[in-house]
Amino acid sequence: MYPIRRKRRLRKSAALRDLVQETHLHPHDFIVPLFVVEGKSIREEIPSMPNIYRMSLDEIQKEVGLLWKMGLKGVLVFAKVEDRLKDNAGTEALNPDGLMQRAIQTIKATIPEMVVFSDVALDPYSSFGHDGIIENNAIVNDATIDVLAQMALSHAQAGADVVAPSDMMDGRVLHIRKALENSGFSDTCIMSYAAKYASSFYGPFRDALDSAPGFGDKKTYQMNPANRKEAMDEVLLDIEEGADLVMVKPGLAYLDILRDLHDATNVPLAVYQVSGEYAMLRAAAEKGWLDYETVMMEQLLAFKRAGASIIASYSAKDAVTLLI
Ligand code: PBG
Repeated sequence: MYPIRRKRRLRKSAALRDLVQETHLHPHDFIVPLFVVEGKSIREEIPSMPNIYRMSLDEIQKEVGLLWKMGLKGVLVFAKVEDRLKDNAGTEALNPDGLMQRAIQTIKATIPEMVVFSDVALDPYSSFGHDGIIENNAIVNDATIDVLAQMALSHAQAGADVVAPSDMMDGRVLHIRKALENSGFSDTCIMSYAAKYASSFYGPFRDALDSAPGFGDKKTYQMNPANRKEAMDEVLLDIEEGADLVMVKPGLAYLDILRDLHDATNVPLAVYQVSGEYAMLRAAAEKGWLDYETVMMEQLLAFKRAGASIIASYSAKDAVTLLI
């Protein structure tokens, strides 16, 4: 008899489609990247990231209040560091009264339940725009992870719930874990950017923080986009070293990696839909070539379908507005 199975039957009505839908987005899926600057009443739009702002702490306070009301549970904090404070060793990163530390304190004081993820890397603090300390034109690993461990500890002391090393130095997760344990911060989580690729999608982010590398590129520490098995190795190492959550970054171009890691590990996976992905979508929408909202939701759904538990996205607020 022809045909017994007709796949279209279950697509007949919206209600039926809803009932058989395999993956659903929810406000709890997202964390929201926030760019913090010094000053008062500052809310400056980043040119290559329409509708995304660098905010001073008073504006950050309002923003996290709004995000919490919308049902968002986490923010991922980045500080834009003044040029005069940058040096090779990232000294300002350890300032207990630095912008990042004050931002963490401010957010926790405003909404204590909001989960604060803090970016741990030297590039916004480095006069060279690199994620590590430079010696003889090379990024030195072991001196860098000493600083990263102190930096993570200082974020934990400021109140960060999750420290998020995004630098891709070797051994930094273990170093950070030890520093946290030794100082009584055994409950502070580590989310490592474990499979972070040397991607050209980070351009707008580097505009936002004025953190583009002053020389060379990041290929001696971030991963080669051609490699898949290496991602598994990186992630398993970070889990062994004490990472509670691991991240894949960028997002859309690396869904195969996300799915591999989902199948091979038992820790929650995060994915970062990065600045360039957001910029592409906004630019196409501005030209009228794509519909921002539906393409955004399709992409975000793809992350969840591929295996992400947490999606860091500049579209998080827009997505949640559509979901609630
Ligand atoms: C820096 C860092 C980068 C991003 C997050 N942390 C940029 C880089 O590695 O050069 C990129 C995020 C984005 O593009 O949205 N350690």
